[in-house]
This record gives sequence, structure tokens and C-alpha cells, in this order.
Amino acid sequence: MRNEIEKDILKVLVTEEEIQKRVTELGEALCEKLEGKDPLFLGVLRGCFVFMADLVRACPLKCDVEFMALSSYRGGTESSGKVEITQDLHGSVEGRNLVIVEDILDSGTTLAFLKETLFARGAASITIVTLLDKPSRRTKAVSADLAGFTIPDAFVVGYGLDYDQKYRNIPYIGVLRPEAYSG
Ligand code: IMP
Ligand code: MG
Repeated sequence: MRNEIEKDILKVLVTEEEIQKRVTELGEALCEKLEGKDPLFLGVLRGCFVFMADLVRACPLKCDVEFMALSSYRGGTESSGKVEITQDLHGSVEGRNLVIVEDILDSGTTLAFLKETLFARGAASITIVTLLDKPSRRTKAVSADLAGFTIPDAFVVGYGLDYDQKYRNIPYIGVLRPEAYSG
């Protein structure tokens, strides 16, 4: 592999080209659904940042962009099950048509919590867009309205997704070598 981060990648699961093609399709689908609805794109930090940047440029609507940070992970590869808001929105979502942008839908704990929280704050509608979906891991009744790729149960990194805050800058989705997280 080419450099010090890519040497920890076991295999490429989704290539840069596949991502770009799919993000274009997702952007078009969102445009069709939300034209004239003044949507608020709400990215879930930090994993969303690369996807969100590409997605909003693939969706030329008049829209706002906001971010929230939630934490259910504690540095490992498993969710703790409890979600905390570590960085909240600046404004109100009352009456707004929200597009939640996530990197990956895994157990569903994060999005189930977020959806409930935002509807409780008066959101008019919520469209969930996730780049990756791991349906085999779901423990909460939540699904994406739009998903980029359905993937098997493997821990993946790149295109914004991290392991222990690293590997977010790999431009594709890759499976991490087990040695990279077993130390
Ligand atoms: P959930 O609450 O279990 O659905 O987990 C969602 C969050 O866990 C995602 O937004 C990611 O930040 C993180 N996550 C889940 N699976 C992976 C993975 O394979 N790689 C990196 N992060 C992951
Ligand atoms: Mg995330």
C-alpha cells in the first residue's frame, strides 16, 4: 500500500469512483424529494464531514447546513448503547425539513436517539441519508430513507470514518486489518 495509513487497510470495500457515482445519485434523489422545501442538512460529526461536503455539492437546493456531535463510541469498535449530545445545534429546527447525514448506520442507537430528539424539538420532517448501512447489526427500529451502500459486518474506515480518530482521510472505504486495532 501507498503510505502509513493505507498499510493498515486489509481490503478496499468501496472505491472512490463508486462513492462519487453513488453520491451523485443520492444528491439527485434528495433534490427531487426536497425541492422548494428549504431543507436543513444536519451532519452528524465527525464521521459525516467528507460525505456531507460531497453530498451538498451534489444537491443544488437552497438549503442550510448544520452539525451536531453525538457520542456513543468510547474509542473502541463497539457502541456503548448510550448516546450523548456533545455539540448541539445553534438554532431551532421547529417546522424545518431536516436531512440527517450520517456516515454509517450500525446498531441504530445514534439515529434512533437523534430522530426522537429532533421530532421532540418540532422538526416537520426528517430524511435520513447514510453513506453506509450495516443492517445485520441493527438493534433499534430505525432505517435510512437513502443509503449509499449496504455492507457486511466488518469494521470499516475512510471517507470520514475513523478508528480511534484515525484513517478519516483515506479517500475510499476500506476494511481495517485486525492487527491495527488489536494493538
Ligand atoms: P450506531 O449508533 O451503532 O448505529 O453507530 C453509529 C456510529 O458508530 C456511526 O456514526 C460511526 O461513527 C460509528 N461506527 C459504526 N460502525 C463503524 C465502522 O465500521 N467504522 C467506523 N465507525 C463506525
Ligand atoms: Mg458517526
